[in-house]
Amino acid sequence: MTETHYRSVFTDATLQQRNHNFDDYWLFTQNHGGELFEAEKDLAKKRARLEYFQNNPVRLRQPLADSQAFYRNYVELKDDPKSLDRLTLLLCAIYKFARHEWVGIKAAWDVHPDMADCHTVQTKISRVHLAEEFCHVRLFDEMLKTCGLDKVEWVPLSPVKEKIYRIFPRLPDFILNAPAFVTELMGVTFYFHLYDQFDEILADEPEVRERLKLLLDEITIDEVAHVGQRRNFIGSTGIKIAKYLVKPFYTGFFKDIPETAELFDIPQMIRDGEAFDFNGLHDHMLEKTWIPSYCKPAVA
Ligand SMILES: [Fe+2]
Ligand SMILES: [Fe+2]
Repeated sequence: MTETHYRSVFTDATLQQRNHNFDDYWLFTQNHGGELFEAEKDLAKKRARLEYFQNNPVRLRQPLADSQAFYRNYVELKDDPKSLDRLTLLLCAIYKFARHEWVGIKAAWDVHPDMADCHTVQTKISRVHLAEEFCHVRLFDEMLKTCGLDKVEWVPLSPVKEKIYRIFPRLPDFILNAPAFVTELMGVTFYFHLYDQFDEILADEPEVRERLKLLLDEITIDEVAHVGQRRNFIGSTGIKIAKYLVKPFYTGFFKDIPETAELFDIPQMIRDGEAFDFNGLHDHMLEKTWIPSYCKPAVA
């Protein structure tokens, strides 16, 4: 882990710094994901990585004792969560988190112009960003398959929630930017806590534990970059508002996934979100992700 001292993601930045960082991110993201396949909502390098995982499968030594418990609860929790084993709870939580992401990006993809009609660096960045998010859903699906769950269906949310997700990307940028940034930050916070749970819950399944970590790393590296990128859309007032949004957003979102209360320390997640500063990232992540220049340590 690095001992370098990065700054808070809520650090203020000038418009000039932010414009420079958009240009820098655009170079980064094209190299990071490779060619965009618009029709497939996919990226060349991400697709190759997923294919590697699919072609080199790892499976549980001890299959889930009761996979029906997962299938009964993964779309909507029916059983008392205290009656479920921790791995089943964890897999349900992963599905539900990814499902929200899937619904959100489908709605955003449909209102966003195709790359051919993107005429600014910001809109191009956002198009690739969305394609990356679709890759994440495929990686989450691969996590579930790794645990033997190959009959998972991606099911829409309730009509009201679907509508909220359809309205969200149509909001003007000055309203949308702070919540969009906080949802990225919430993702990173969740993934860090999820990573720790793999160690705890899969202690007896070293192969699957390591595979799930690799799959999650693929996502987290992108998401850390998204946190910086979405932060870069926000000015001085917005970034203060964003910090206030962390607690209500995290609280409301995780309330909707009841499994998380059994597995995660939500107040700690909120504190981690409010204090997020890129320190503590493993070196292999720092090498591959992107951090805004104004959050990097000053060069002596
Ligand atoms: Fe994502
Ligand atoms: Fe993201």
